[in-house]
Amino acid sequence: MFFSFLKHCPRILLFLLFTLFYTSTEAYDPLDPNGNITIKWDIISWAPDGYIAVVTMNNFQRYRRISAPGWSLGWTWAKKEVIWAMVGGQTTEQGDCLKFKETIPHCCERTPTIVDLLPGTPYNQQIANCCKGGVLSSWTQDPTNSVAAFRVTIGRAGTTSKTVRLPRNFTLKAPGPGYTCGPTKIVKPTKFISKDKRRVTQALMTWNVTCTYSQFQAQKLPTCCVSLSSFYNDTIVQCPTCSCGCQGNTAQSGSCIDPSAPHLASVVNNSGNNSIAPLVRCTSHMCPIRVHWHIKLNYREYWRVKVTINNFNYRMNYSDWNLVVQHPNFDNLTRIFSFNYESVIPYGSINDTVMLWGVKYYNDFLMHAGPSGNVQSELLFGKDKSTFMFDKGWAFPRRIYFNGDICVMPPPDAYPLSPNNGSKQEVSFLSLTMALLVALVFYAYV
Ligand SMILES: *[C@@H]1O[C@H](CO)[C@@H](O)[C@H](O)[C@H]1NC(C)=O
Ligand SMILES: *[C@@H]1O[C@H](CO)[C@@H](O)[C@H](O)[C@H]1NC(C)=O
Ligand SMILES: *[C@@H]1O[C@H](CO)[C@@H](O)[C@H](O)[C@H]1NC(C)=O
Ligand SMILES: *[C@@H]1O[C@H](CO)[C@@H](O)[C@H](O)[C@H]1NC(C)=O
Ligand SMILES: *[C@@H]1O[C@H](CO)[C@@H](O)[C@H](O)[C@H]1NC(C)=O
Ligand SMILES: *[C@@H]1O[C@H](CO)[C@@H](O)[C@H](O)[C@H]1NC(C)=O
Ligand SMILES: *[C@@H]1O[C@H](CO)[C@@H](O)[C@H](O)[C@H]1NC(C)=O
Ligand SMILES: *[C@@H]1O[C@H](CO)[C@@H](O)[C@H](O)[C@H]1NC(C)=O
Ligand SMILES: *[C@@H]1O[C@H](CO)[C@@H](O)[C@H](O)[C@H]1NC(C)=O
Ligand SMILES: *[C@@H]1O[C@H](CO)[C@@H](O)[C@H](O)[C@H]1NC(C)=O
Repeated sequence: MFFSFLKHCPRILLFLLFTLFYTSTEAYDPLDPNGNITIKWDIISWAPDGYIAVVTMNNFQRYRRISAPGWSLGWTWAKKEVIWAMVGGQTTEQGDCLKFKETIPHCCERTPTIVDLLPGTPYNQQIANCCKGGVLSSWTQDPTNSVAAFRVTIGRAGTTSKTVRLPRNFTLKAPGPGYTCGPTKIVKPTKFISKDKRRVTQALMTWNVTCTYSQFQAQKLPTCCVSLSSFYNDTIVQCPTCSCGCQGNTAQSGSCIDPSAPHLASVVNNSGNNSIAPLVRCTSHMCPIRVHWHIKLNYREYWRVKVTINNFNYRMNYSDWNLVVQHPNFDNLTRIFSFNYESVIPYGSINDTVMLWGVKYYNDFLMHAGPSGNVQSELLFGKDKSTFMFDKGWAFPRRIYFNGDICVMPPPDAYPLSPNNGSKQEVSFLSLTMALLVALVFYAYV
């Protein structure tokens, strides 16, 4: 069954190969080959002992976002630069500014770490695109909120394009590891177009740094799993046991919450001291997120699927969540009820992957574990008669990612079998043939 399943989707094999070859060596995402976060420094004016720069961070990743508590950006100064002032961001530490007597810099660290300001920052401390608490939307979902920016005034630096030294060794935490940043490169100065579009100005000097994500670098435990069911079979295939951790295991992932515990709210409130580690409901899979795919109805020309996402994490509301799903029938997705979608076609030919996300103010917010901790939608597919079938698990998804992290799938040989096909029928056919043979042999001898 396993191999016949693979025969029908060689893409999976391809994918596994890709993953094997690329994840261990470099940051590479086959579904988003050009995905990156680009950090751009525009020098907008020279200062007596340095310069003023606007730093812009663009999330050019189709489906990976940066969630609360947000990004932090670090770099190493080339010489003895200091940050006199910042707008729209701040360094986490001031460092040792003992040498300065009159005006004290904002930061004297050789490797400063910058974080975003929180929403609600007074207007005179803001610049455009700042102050989102470090949250960056994915490029597909909300391009206007996939940008962050802050302004820095640098001292003890060069004051001309010949003498200025580029900061090096950029690090991006989001908030954990996973991103690797490339070298700092001087690029063509950014052009700024005035509001009335009648004048164009440009930066005095611009440099870029590109950071890419790798799940291998992030070394995260899985955070999501998939369960399956269908109208044609009562079996519900649960998430594989221990997908994201094991119950009763006292290591990192081990603790969980029994929803029937008497003091649930206070346990959720007190444990962990504002930690960002998930606090999950006790399940056999221990995942904070479960995606359920139910094959709901079969029409003559169409078939219908219900997708439900459950949040089992008591400590996390997922705003602007997204799902990336791969299934060969996505080239004929006829209707989707109450989710947004966009095709993801990395190689321009195979149209089998979509990105799904919630409708603003309706289901874009996936509430923490509990009665409201779920979102759902239904998908209607048109049948292509030459490939459509219910047997061999064809109607189940090949891959699912939640917020860019791959979800653990049940093994293909556990999938619910369709009633009018599968091993049972083969067995009865075989025994029928055997019976006939025996009968023939019997007759021949008599
Ligand atoms: C970063 O992403 C943008 C947008 O997809 C792309 O134009 C650019 O070439 C990428 N940069 C690198 C270095 O891959
Ligand atoms: C530098 O980054 C900006 C986005 O912040 C991008 O538009 C531009 O193409 C980049 N330049 C180069 C040479 O990569
Ligand atoms: C930058 O990082 C590399 C490798 O981590 C290290 O060898 C180098 O010394 C660092 N440079 C500076 C200026 O810190
Ligand atoms: C949880 O903590 C918040 C603030 O820390 C408090 O207002 C609330 O009453 C607590 N809830 C319970 C059930 O302990
Ligand atoms: C919270 O942190 C304090 C000090 O770090 C520690 O003593 C306490 O045990 C922690 N509480 C919980 C519930 O983890
Ligand atoms: C999730 O959002 C709800 C409603 O805004 C809020 O009451 C709750 O405290 C939030 N939970 C967490 C874990 O942030
Ligand atoms: C891919 O399939 C979707 C859903 O049927 C369709 O809307 C889209 O136009 C297709 N894209 C291409 C490039 O074929
Ligand atoms: C899409 O589904 C419709 C309705 O079943 C069918 O007529 C059409 O041939 C299908 N198209 C493709 C490309 O599979
Ligand atoms: C449902 O699927 C399970 C698992 O593949 C299989 O063992 C069972 O026989 C199927 N039941 C029916 C009624 O087809
Ligand atoms: C049962 O499976 C066989 C291949 O194993 C296929 O040729 C046949 O069309 C299937 N029958 C039904 C009713 O789906």
